[in-house]
Amino acid sequence: MQIFIDTADINEIRDLNETGLIDGVTTNPSLAASQGIQFTDLIRQICDIVDGPISAEVIALDAAGMIEQGKKLAGIHENVVIKVPLTVDGLKACYALAEDDIAVNVTLCFSAPQALLAAKAGARYISPFVGRLDDQGWDGMQLIRDIQLVYDNYMFDTEILAASIRHPQHVLEAAKAGADVCTIPPKVFRQLYKHNLTDIGLDAFMADWKKSGLSI
Ligand code: E4P
Repeated sequence: MQIFIDTADINEIRDLNETGLIDGVTTNPSLAASQGIQFTDLIRQICDIVDGPISAEVIALDAAGMIEQGKKLAGIHENVVIKVPLTVDGLKACYALAEDDIAVNVTLCFSAPQALLAAKAGARYISPFVGRLDDQGWDGMQLIRDIQLVYDNYMFDTEILAASIRHPQHVLEAAKAGADVCTIPPKVFRQLYKHNLTDIGLDAFMADWKKSGLSI
């Protein structure tokens, strides 16, 4: 499973990219708005840090506007993936951009029929929002499984990008369900490697080694 980080924070992106474990970045208008940097500059800076797909979302609500903004954003760097919302205009824009060989991430997906349409529109990624479904009492991860089944049935190339991830269990469940990508907020990414038993075990190893007088 590929790991993307779900943030527009340049310092976080730079820091986490040093792990060598980051395959791409997703941003959204809310994340970008919190950075106080002109949007195209922000996306350019992210592309300079991470060598992988970088999702940048349009803010137009009509297909023509989305296509225009999508083409502009795609011109920033070859790794930019255009994010469009799962509306009928978003699907039209997805189809048109995909016809132009521009990679599209269809976002705000909350049902398998929506995901089916995004695949038919030529989306490179579909982003089901697991956490927001859980918040409303649904089983967000079941959506990932349903989309996986539908895409497998018809051998769609669209990749499932599990989004709205809230905790490490979401990451595990997304991997078990076969999601192609999981986009993870920095805090949750750090929770993935952190374990108190690892820390306790390492402290004990270091203490024993120190007492022994051994060296490497
Ligand atoms: C996906 O690309 C979105 O940026 C993100 O996962 C939304 O997550 P949230 O529900 O935590 O805002």
